[in-house]
Amino acid sequence: MCGIVGYVGGERCVEVLMEGLKNLEYRGYDSAGLAVASPGGIETAREVGPLNNLAGTLKGRDRDFFSVRAGVGHTRWATHGRPSEANAHPHKGGGAGGPEVAVVHNGIIENHGELRRELRGRGIEFNSETDTEVIAHLLAERVASGESLKEALVGALKRLQGSFAVAAMSAAEPETIVAARNQSPLVVGLGEGENFLASAVQALLGYTRRFLFVENGEVVEITGSSVGLSTLEGEPVQRETFEVDWGAEAVELGGYEDFMLKEIHEQPAALGATLAGRLMDDGCADLSDLDLNLSDVRRVVVVACGTAYHAGLLGKQAIERLARVPVEVTVASEYRYADPVGDEDTLVVAISQSGETTDTLAAVGAARGFGGRVLAVTNTQGSLITREADAVLLTKAGPEVGVAATKTFVTQVAAMHLLALALAEARGARPVEELREVGRALRLAPEKVEEAIGLAEERAGEAAEVFEEARCSLFLGRGAAFPVALEGALKLKEISYLPSEGYPAGEMKHGPIALVDGRCPMVAVLGEGVLREKTLSNVEETVARGARVISVAREDDAVAAAIAEVVLPVPKAPEVLSPFVAAVPLQLLAYRVAKARGLNVDKPRNLAKSVTVE
Ligand code: G6P
Repeated sequence: MCGIVGYVGGERCVEVLMEGLKNLEYRGYDSAGLAVASPGGIETAREVGPLNNLAGTLKGRDRDFFSVRAGVGHTRWATHGRPSEANAHPHKGGGAGGPEVAVVHNGIIENHGELRRELRGRGIEFNSETDTEVIAHLLAERVASGESLKEALVGALKRLQGSFAVAAMSAAEPETIVAARNQSPLVVGLGEGENFLASAVQALLGYTRRFLFVENGEVVEITGSSVGLSTLEGEPVQRETFEVDWGAEAVELGGYEDFMLKEIHEQPAALGATLAGRLMDDGCADLSDLDLNLSDVRRVVVVACGTAYHAGLLGKQAIERLARVPVEVTVASEYRYADPVGDEDTLVVAISQSGETTDTLAAVGAARGFGGRVLAVTNTQGSLITREADAVLLTKAGPEVGVAATKTFVTQVAAMHLLALALAEARGARPVEELREVGRALRLAPEKVEEAIGLAEERAGEAAEVFEEARCSLFLGRGAAFPVALEGALKLKEISYLPSEGYPAGEMKHGPIALVDGRCPMVAVLGEGVLREKTLSNVEETVARGARVISVAREDDAVAAAIAEVVLPVPKAPEVLSPFVAAVPLQLLAYRVAKARGLNVDKPRNLAKSVTVE
């Protein structure tokens, strides 16, 4: 949450900062701001609301603002202080008795109250309600006393408790940016005669693919011609350059109306890339490069949040069915405080698209407490979780910009199936040929999902009409269709703000059936196998009570067609693919409902794509 960006080098400073912020808006869009430095002082531009508002304000700035060579920028997801111009970053300090400084920050300074009192006691006036402003004043005091910006940051950091990535500049050193982090992410982008800084690599893909990751306890000083990384104690640090293989086009709309729609359509390619090199022609899942001994795994614990948690539930079903290993799936924010039980034979699988969700990282820490081995399933190369885990299984969805996860969900489910197959084979849980058959079926995921998109595109609009007068909705499923129902309900509530719950269809009679009326549409995910029949009878019970039903069912399913007002058809596919194909129409349904309500599907209110605070 919150994105920071920095640039030093040439006169394209403001352009780079704005482009960087555009690509970081998924981290928050309550307000945005820039600070640019010149020997005369620091100038800021800040606006409430999305980045476009800031872009509008910049049109009124004179040419000097655009000829600076260094600056920092910020896009905010409010934690302390409501979204307002005063609370928007960058925050400034100094000016009266010393050079001005400016600070941008992602994270939370837990002891800001105490620091604020202390600074006020020394006569410092505050201009915002944010926790961040204390950093600006701490820095300004030190710079005024003669410290360099880097010395001042190191000194100020010693006073801060909490999680942060912070970048600062000073009018005394107008072509230098210093930055540091504790828990929150920070990367340095390397250029020619210019260097960059950001919360995440996708901010800078239009300018560089070469990055350095800053670690906790380090400080980095950036100029146009140098990047100096050192510990807080002043020891120089050598860090290998990391090259990402994501291209700038991945964060562009490419002719689509929204990123969410683009990303839904990218699912076949994302699945293909995730399975490539890992799922062989004969159906063998090869995870040997992970260097993780799977043969002695006795128990699996999956920790994750949001959509990734739903992928974990599907992973549990696959692992238990194929590898016969017990799996527990826990929401990371609960697990981290649960004093969890386990041993070295427990494999902890942390699923996180961003690789930087605070709760998921903390859950990994909790699992370390009992000696668990950690496998990270993540979409983000070089992310924090890749550095915490023993092994990394990368999903290859490419950057996902829409806040509602789509392509990353199906690739997480694919990755969990790869793990299930590899675990099953390593443990000899099933005859190899049986596993290979499942593997060969899984190889069809890209083409079946492609078909599913085509089928659902035709009908999603019609299904969305059922929601016109809706006041709530229920998504029902059993077996593999249940986590899909949970995910469908999450998509709908995230982007259309309509209260929506996913429920195991068999539980309807134990409460939710009381909600049934003509304004609470039921979305029935029928799935395959024996549970299809059971779900159908649960749905019949709601129809008898006046429910309007949309079913997600095979295109040739006449029974489903008879009970539903609209069928969202899925292609005929092997059973292992049923959650993949059923997820697609639910994504498109949520998309169409939100669009019909005139909402911004890529930036739903109050949400952020990456949740880096507790
Ligand atoms: C936020 C996002 C969700 C995501 C969840 C977990 O809530 O809006 O789309 O599923 O965080 O994020 P992660 O990056 O750990 O998968």
